[in-house]
Formats: sequence, structure tokens, C-alpha cells
Amino acid sequence: MSAQEQDKAAKRAQWEEINRAKALAKRQKESPTDIAMRPSEIKKIFQAIRGTRDLLPPETALWNRVENTAHEVFATFGFGEIRPPILEDSNLFARSIGGETDVVSKEMYTFPDRLEDHPETAKAIQDVMKEQPRLVGLAIATSAAIYPFISLRPEATASVCRAYIEHNMNQLPQPVKLYYMGPMFRRERPQKGRYRQFYQIGAEVLGGNDAPAIDAEVIEMVMTFFDKLELPGLELDINSIGHNAPECRPKYVELLREELRKVKDQLGADSQRRIETNPLRVLDSKLEHEQPIIAKLPRIADHLCDACKTHYAEVKKQLQLRGVIYRENWRLVRGLDYYMRTTFEITAKGLGSQNAVCGGGRYDGLVELLGGPPTKGIGFAIGEDRLILSLQDAGKGAVRQGRDIYIAWMGEHAYAAAVRTAKLLRNAGFSVELPPSELKFGKALERASKLDSRYALILGDNEVSEGMFTLKTLADGTQQKFTEPELLEFLRL
Ligand code: HAM
Repeated sequence: MSAQEQDKAAKRAQWEEINRAKALAKRQKESPTDIAMRPSEIKKIFQAIRGTRDLLPPETALWNRVENTAHEVFATFGFGEIRPPILEDSNLFARSIGGETDVVSKEMYTFPDRLEDHPETAKAIQDVMKEQPRLVGLAIATSAAIYPFISLRPEATASVCRAYIEHNMNQLPQPVKLYYMGPMFRRERPQKGRYRQFYQIGAEVLGGNDAPAIDAEVIEMVMTFFDKLELPGLELDINSIGHNAPECRPKYVELLREELRKVKDQLGADSQRRIETNPLRVLDSKLEHEQPIIAKLPRIADHLCDACKTHYAEVKKQLQLRGVIYRENWRLVRGLDYYMRTTFEITAKGLGSQNAVCGGGRYDGLVELLGGPPTKGIGFAIGEDRLILSLQDAGKGAVRQGRDIYIAWMGEHAYAAAVRTAKLLRNAGFSVELPPSELKFGKALERASKLDSRYALILGDNEVSEGMFTLKTLADGTQQKFTEPELLEFLRL
């Protein structure tokens, strides 16, 4: 750059600086109490990680309403809340959900833990590495699963079972009824209703017997919860996938595999692979051209052992007794390995392809698989993100975000009275906005409307000397004068 050009550039920069300062000064004059940067002026260096998102007000008020409803409804069914940790030993999920499932093999957030907390493992790894060059040793330690891996939980049933064993809950009166809510993590392809950090509200019944009445009551509870939220258009699908004895599900799976092999050429690549790995999952396929083929496959209900058949029939009877409307869906197999007998799924409207808002089922034997005593188990998890989307779609998502009262004060004496009044009204349960610095009445009323306030409480020197309050109803502009007790009485009406 020539000296002349350098000079020009410096001058241009100087002018730009001056113009920026002028614009800022102008805006400060326009709105002295609200100097905010324009969106275009903010550099977004950091953004939420793909598939994760911030839940913001006013929507968080709806989340709280949903969660409070869960606390209330589940308590009426005798459930207590459990809050398991978000991090668990990776093996817990591999063993319970199944190492071959998509959730464990493709979607879990898993990473090596630091070795400080695992002195014995650290020593074992050191021993391996002494024998081998460093990197090869580390690779062996990792692949031999000596290395401690931890995962962000992709679901919570496994954690609840672990906690049941860890805290000897089998010593408590059975069954133990627990519910939970919180974030889960699966590295799926994000889309509407599918996130990498999502939220579940779930419940589990552990121990006692496997009476079909328990299955029906668990389903009744989740339907009652949805009813309380007035969510329309829900559909409940149920099925029984039998149990692990050779004459039950394994026999059916073999039959299914044989039938699928006959039509292999007509299936897509995923289904072709699943014929050998997990033929039940073929029934889950959404591929259009596979639907007529699947429709002709043998159905599990016709191949259940007698005990599972009786159990399923009784679950249906128990649901009818409770007035729960369901649809039988022989293709409902679910994507996690621990299920047996009853499986169910609830779909909602307004969600597009990700329309399952709740999934659950029976998993007798899971606690034992994790090292505990033989234990019956059944539960469900609701996808809270999807539930919120569906409520919003149905027009049930509105939550008032405004303030009850905006205090428009002017003058030093009025400010002291405003602080005292704000405390009084907040103690009485009203939401109150108290501007921290003085505003002209016009400006204060403008802000009160912007914040969707119901009332503006006007406090000027006149009001303070008279010991009165002027209350303006912002919807119609009417004004009334009150003493303090009258004001509280009026607001409480
Ligand atoms: P799940 O079917 O894997 O079951 O998940 C339950 C619900 O969580 C789904 O129906 C869906 O609403 C929601 N969900 C799953 N993945 C995502 C995602 N990536 N984004 C948004 N929502 C999602 C279980 O997790 C079992 N633990 C349920 C259970 C409890 N079975 C017995 N007890």
C-alpha cells in the first residue's frame, strides 16, 4: 500500500469510528435506560452444539407446567422421584440396552474417564503397557475394555435398575415405584422433534409380581398425565413380544428369519442386514415398498407361549376395565433389547415423522442381568421435547409471561414507597416489575405495556402524600385510587 493509500485508509477508519460514536450517542438519547447492541453488532463466537438448544422463557413456563403435572399425577399413583446421575459406566448401557442396538453402537456419547479415580485399572494398564510399546499397549487396554469408559446417559431405565440394586431397594415393600425427569443424550441426526440432548419424563415399577394389572396401571397413569395436559389426538399402540424361553420369542424369531430370507431380494439394505442380526427390527421399517411384504409376515401374537398369551389377554382386559382406549399393533417391537411381553408406544399429532411421544414396556430380568436379584420391571419414558411441540401445535402451549403489576414511580419519596409496595405485592404472590431508575410516566406506561403487564401502579409525590395508590388497568385505560388494604383486596379478586 502506498503512503497515500495508507493515509486514506487511516482517515476512513477515523471517520467510521466517529460515525459509530455518533450513532451510539444518538441511541443513548433515544433510550437512555436500554442501551442494547443490535443483533448485527453482536459477534456470535459460540453457539449451542448441534442437536442441543437453549430452552428460554416464556416456553420454559410451559416445561414447568408439564413437569409439575407429572409430579402431581405420578404422586397420586404412589410414585416417588429418583434423580440418577447423568454420567454412568458405559458398560451399564451396553449390557442393558444391548451392544448391537443403534442407541449403544452408534449414538452414545462415550469417553475415557481420567485414571486418577481408578488406581487398580491404572496399574493394570501400566502393566499391559510395560509389555508393549506405549501406543499399542494403550490400544490393547482400550479394546480389552480395561480402560474405564463413561457415557452420558441415553435413557434412564438402566440407571434406575442400577440404583435399585445399589441401594438394596428389594428390601423395601415391593413393588418400588419410581419416576424421573431430565436430559438424555443420543447422537442422532437432528430434525424436528429429534435432538442430541433431549428430555424424558419416565417411570419404572420394580419388584413384586408381574400382574397384568401393573402393566395396565402404568399405561393408565401416563394416559391420565396426558389427559391432565388436555393433549388431543393421542394414539396408544400395544403389543406383546413374548419372552426369552425357546418355545416363545426365539421360536418366532427363527420363523420370521426364515420367512424374511425368502423375500430378502425385495428388501432394502438395512432390512437385509437385520434378517441375520435382529429380524424383529425389520417390522419397524418405514420403507414404503417393504410395507406389503411385512404385512404378509407371521405375527408374534399367533406364536406366543401360553403364559405370554394369557398375560397379554389379561393386560387388554385390565386396560378395558380402566377405560383406556388402545390399538393392537403387532409390529411394535421397540428398539432396546431389554423388553419382553408388554410393549407400548403413544403417538401424538403435529410432530411429523418423529411422532412417538412415549415408549415403554416390561423388562423382567433386566435387574438380574445387571447383577441384582430376579426382579420384575415395567416402565415408560415420555419425550418431553415432543410433548411440548405437540401441546404448542394443539394450541395448548400458551403460558402468560407478562407481569401482574408494573410500578410507575416518580420522585425520591415515591421510590421508597415503590420499593416497600413491591415487597408487599410480591409477598402476596403477584409478579411485580419495579424499574430501577426513574422514568417519565409516558415512558413507564410504554414499558409496562411492552412487558404485557396487567396493571400499572402509579406512585408520584401526590399519591405518597395522600397515602393512596393509583391503579391503571392497561387493557382499557381505566384508573382507580386505592388505600393499601383496598389495593390488595382489589388485586386479589
Ligand atoms: P425410547 O423409546 O428410546 O424408550 O424413548 C422414549 C421417548 O423418548 C421416545 O418415544 C421419544 O418421545 C423420546 N426420544 C427418544 N429419542 C429422542 C431424541 N433424540 N429426541 C427427542 N426425543 C427423543 C426409552 O428411552 C426407554 N428407557 C423407555 C422405558 C422406560 N421403557 C421402560 N421404561
